[in-house]
Amino acid sequence: MSNDRAAHWDGVYHSKSEDGVSWYQQTPEPSLTLLRLAGALPSSAIVDIGGGASHLVDALLELGFGDVTVLDLSQAVIDADRTRLGTLAGDVEWICADITHWSPARRYDVWHDRAAFHFLTDPADQAAYAATLARALGSGGHAVIGTFAPDGPEKCSGLPVVRHDAESIGKVLGHGFELVETRRHDHRTPWDSVQHFQFSTFRRKA
Ligand SMILES: C[S@@+](CC[C@H](N)C(=O)[O-])C[C@H]1O[C@@H](n2cnc3c(N)ncnc32)[C@H](O)[C@@H]1O
Repeated sequence: MSNDRAAHWDGVYHSKSEDGVSWYQQTPEPSLTLLRLAGALPSSAIVDIGGGASHLVDALLELGFGDVTVLDLSQAVIDADRTRLGTLAGDVEWICADITHWSPARRYDVWHDRAAFHFLTDPADQAAYAATLARALGSGGHAVIGTFAPDGPEKCSGLPVVRHDAESIGKVLGHGFELVETRRHDHRTPWDSVQHFQFSTFRRKA
């Protein structure tokens, strides 16, 4: 399953330009705003799950963040990110892994995910994601999770997705997390259509 997933995403990133995918954005918002509201500081350890070709990592480095990790199951997109960032790529930890099989070796202050979690349609994969998040985040840490909203698209990149709101994500994460805030976000694709997203921030309880 992981190999099929990786092959799909490698194929996407080999065949499409950075702004040739629906999820492309010039500026990573509302992610930057939500990370700030979650209390992220330049000294915070941040992991971006399914970071893809997002420029969130560029923006965080620009803001002086010194402990940024990008995880994605596509080696193709990690290679592209490293090429884009040039010498700055050495300031980032890159992890090529399927989130449902990843064992974090350390803890993070903030977990960010824009449009990766919603590809997990199997409840067992969602549970694995939640267990990994609980291991990766220290108590008081925050998770900012953006997905298609209940009235968003049913597919992304040709794959089925599960559309979420804060309640459905909270159910997957379980009692160890409390909801801090949730908001809707209208994403404008490069071809000018609108996709309804939701972004929810959860705090890991002590
Ligand atoms: C729709 S893209 C979003 C990319 C990026 N977060 C952004 O906002 O531009 C989804 C990304 O999640 C990655 N991905 C999908 N399933 C994954 C999984 N099970 N584990 C890790 N990464 C995954 C894909 O390779 C892809 O880069």
